[in-house]
Order: sequence, then C-alpha cells, then structure tokens
Amino acid sequence: MSEPDDAAWSAAAGAPLSDDGFPDRDPGLPFVLSDGAPGQADPAPDESGEPANGASSSEPGVPATDPAVAASASPALRAFRGRDPVPAPLNSHGPAMVLAMCNQKGGVGKTTSTINLGAALAEYGRRVLMVDLDPQGALGAGLGIAAHELDHTIYNLMLGPSTALTDVLVPTGIEGVDLIPANIDLSAAEVQLINEVGREHTLSRALRPVLHAYDYVLIDCQPSLGLLTVNALACAQGVIIPLAAEFFSLRGVALLVDTISKVRERINPNLSVQGVLVTMYDGRTMHAREVVAMLHQRFGDQVYDTIISRTVKFPETTVAGEPITTYAPTSAAAEAYRALAREVIAR
Ligand SMILES: Nc1ncnc2c1ncn2[C@@H]1O[C@H](COP(=O)(O)OP(=O)(O)O)[C@@H](O)[C@H]1O
Ligand SMILES: [Mg+2]
Repeated sequence: MSEPDDAAWSAAAGAPLSDDGFPDRDPGLPFVLSDGAPGQADPAPDESGEPANGASSSEPGVPATDPAVAASASPALRAFRGRDPVPAPLNSHGPAMVLAMCNQKGGVGKTTSTINLGAALAEYGRRVLMVDLDPQGALGAGLGIAAHELDHTIYNLMLGPSTALTDVLVPTGIEGVDLIPANIDLSAAEVQLINEVGREHTLSRALRPVLHAYDYVLIDCQPSLGLLTVNALACAQGVIIPLAAEFFSLRGVALLVDTISKVRERINPNLSVQGVLVTMYDGRTMHAREVVAMLHQRFGDQVYDTIISRTVKFPETTVAGEPITTYAPTSAAAEAYRALAREVIAR
C-alpha cells in the first residue's frame, strides 16, 4: 500500500481537510480530519472465529501476523508483539489510574472494551472500578446488572444532594471489579451540569474519595463530546480511543483529539492518550488492514499492539451479562483483552 497523504486519507474518510492550520493540535497526534456524518456499519461480521493480535487464520493466504500491521509497527513494538510480561502481583492497591474510554462515535467498542479490559485487569490482580457515564446504561447491562431498576446511580452521585459513594457502588460478578452504574436519569445531567460551579470537575470530585481503593478506574463515555465526556477527561490520566477498523470510523477522530488537547491545556494537564485500540478487525479484508496501517502511520506507537478482532462472541457476552474472559475464557477474543491488559499495565 502506498503511503496516503492527509488529503488521501481525508478523501478515504469522506471528510474535508481542516483549514485552520491545526492550532490546538497535539504534535504527537497529527490528525487533520474534521468531524463528519456517522459512518456506515461494517457489512461483514466474521462469525468464523476471533483471531487475536492482528492474526487471522480463517482464510488461506492471510498470514498469522498481518503484514500491514507488522510493516507499520515500530521495531520496538514488533519486538514486543504479544510479549508484554505477565504483570507482577500487587501487595497493595491504589491510587487508581483513571482511564476514559472515549470516542464520540457509537458502536466502536467502548463499552465492550471497558468490560473486558476491566475483567482482564482483574485477572491480573488489579482492583477495578468501572464507571458508566452513558445514560444508555449498557455497561451495567453487559455485566448483568439491571441499572434501569436502580434508584441510585452516577447521576445521583454527581448531581443529587448528599449521595454517598456507598449508595451507588455495586459489586459485579467479577472478583475485584465494582461498578458505578448509569441509567436514563443521567440524560438530564448534561443540562443540569451547566449551572454547577466547577462543572467540568463534578465527576472528579465525586470519585476522589475512592481512588485509593482501586488500581484502575475505567470510565465508559457516552458517544458525544459534551459536558459528561469532558468531565471524564477532566479526571482521567489517560484516554483509550477505541476505533473500529473501517474507514468511516476515522471521521471525527480529529475533533476527539482536539477536544483531548483542549482539556489538557485548559483543565487537566495530566491527561494524555494512553492508546488507540483497534476493534472489530476483520483480517480477511484489505480494507481493515489498510485502516490499521493508516492508524499506525498517524498515531505511531500510540496504537496498541493488541487488535480486537470482529467476532459474534461479543454480542453473545452482552446477552450473557458477563465478560468474554469468563464467557469464553480460552477464546482468542479473551486472550486479546488479556494482552491489552498487559499492555495497559506496561505503559
Ligand atoms: N470485536 C467485536 N466484534 C464484534 N462485535 C463487537 C465487537 N466489539 C463490540 N461488538 C458489538 O458491537 C456493538 C457495539 O459495541 P459497544 O461496545 O456497545 O460500542 P460503544 O460502547 O462504542 O457504543 C455491541 O453489540 C457489541 O457487542
Ligand atoms: Mg457504549
């Protein structure tokens, strides 16, 4: 594949080039696409298997290590591909690293990645708090918790009068993982937050008392860059950007990166991009491999080595209400999220 320039990439993504000279752009994140209309769904779900780490074994002629991925990864990344050390056990816990799963596009794997990365981190002995910041409440649903029936959720913690953390913390079926759920009540928060003093720091204030008890706090953001997402970015040290491996998912990434830069400059200097996570990868298609190569060219080492392949097992886990690591513990998909957990710990 020839190296696409910005114009080619923009054309591929169907978005015009930014004409502002990229004033706020992070020099390490040279995205130039501006936001666009919602993308189209991937038409070809792979039901045949779930190869991990860019490997695809379902089609003859497609080598186990994807050449597009291998060629574009840095030598250091290639050397360590799949070889992040098994993390050492912890003797004590906290203070937590707060990671926001963020992409204003829906259906890219934010919630799925929150659940499965969290479960995989817990397998390595890390204490994890998952925070749902999406009024759809999918995080609770994916963990088998009926958040719509709960009286106390993240909404009450952020905006209700004198709601204690103990009122909203829910244990999950996964050892070492707790949840602060959300439900449709949270849809009122965006408007109500506008009148709050220090509105961007509302979530940060609410979570501060429990940070010492966890090693990771994973915030599942809603598909928007509104005030709730800014609240997540304001209290996070790292952003994980899940991106589906298709051209249309590249649209809007410039706006996301720009938002992250602005939050870092104006309200949270500790914020950085922890990594870009390629999801729903179908190694049988040239298209998916080209997207991954483009992401490596643009984001470099920030793209996680681990790639999450497309498999029907993930929708199945949502129905089952448990993570892939327990639903199909030996599957390549479960192994992929374990590999991601090792990368997240190693970074
Ligand atoms: N790797 C994957 N392969 C196939 N389906 C997936 C994968 N990851 C997520 N899904 C499914 O895609 C849908 C959207 O994923 P989700 O994690 O809810 O995205 P988001 O939170 O970004 O909206 C869900 O039905 C989920 O089960
Ligand atoms: Mg979601």
